[in-house]
Amino acid sequence: MTEQAGELPDPWVMQHEFTSKRLNRLAAALGAKSYLEIGVHTGGTFARVQVAERTAVDPAFPFPVSDHEDDVTIFAEMTSDEFFAGLPAGKTYDLVFIDGLHTFEQTYRDLCNAIVRSHPAAPILVDDTVPSDVYSALRDPEQAFAFRAAAGPDGSAAWHGDTFKVSSPCTTSTWGWTTARSWARGTRRRWCGGPARGAGGRCSTRWRRSPG
Ligand SMILES: C[S@@+](CC[C@H](N)C(=O)[O-])C[C@H]1O[C@@H](n2cnc3c(N)ncnc32)[C@H](O)[C@@H]1O
Repeated sequence: MTEQAGELPDPWVMQHEFTSKRLNRLAAALGAKSYLEIGVHTGGTFARVQVAERTAVDPAFPFPVSDHEDDVTIFAEMTSDEFFAGLPAGKTYDLVFIDGLHTFEQTYRDLCNAIVRSHPAAPILVDDTVPSDVYSALRDPEQAFAFRAAAGPDGSAAWHGDTFKVSSPCTTSTWGWTTARSWARGTRRRWCGGPARGAGGRCSTRWRRSPG
């Protein structure tokens, strides 16, 4: 799981460091004791999150989970829909990071399930809510890459899908929704009274405006 010590930092490592820093600040400020990550891939972010109990959900982990699991580090090799459907009644999480399948329907379903499975003060971070260009926002990754290549090489391999659409149903008077700007631009945004302030990838945070 995650990068090997001694490797030179690359953009993915930087992304994992920034995202986990943001999550760790939220976790520390809120006293989070349980963390759920939907879509984990190599575990670059997951491995850096410092919360007592951590649960990773991914249909296919590209590393041997048995090398990393223990009583408080749980790997659920399945889709997020299967995971939520099988959760014991009453199980909730203090902090949730949604970074699974980048389609609106799946992300919205993950968000709704996360709301049900988190306590009233728990923030839910949703990644990939700001596409980097028009190609990145296409639902089909193959189409995104083909159209971008046809437009001329620009060195980008980004695909965020239409995850950005979740911002619309999430903007209500009961729910807070804010989006961090790209760390690459050096922009800083204050969230939830400050604990998540700092650099990081483009993702959005949702929280209840009046917990309880
Ligand atoms: C962008 S990667 C996750 C990166 C990771 N959160 C990090 O910060 O390093 C997206 C992951 O979502 C997983 N995924 C795809 N469909 C999924 C689903 N239905 N439920 C959960 N995870 C899914 C993919 O297998 C992939 O590993």
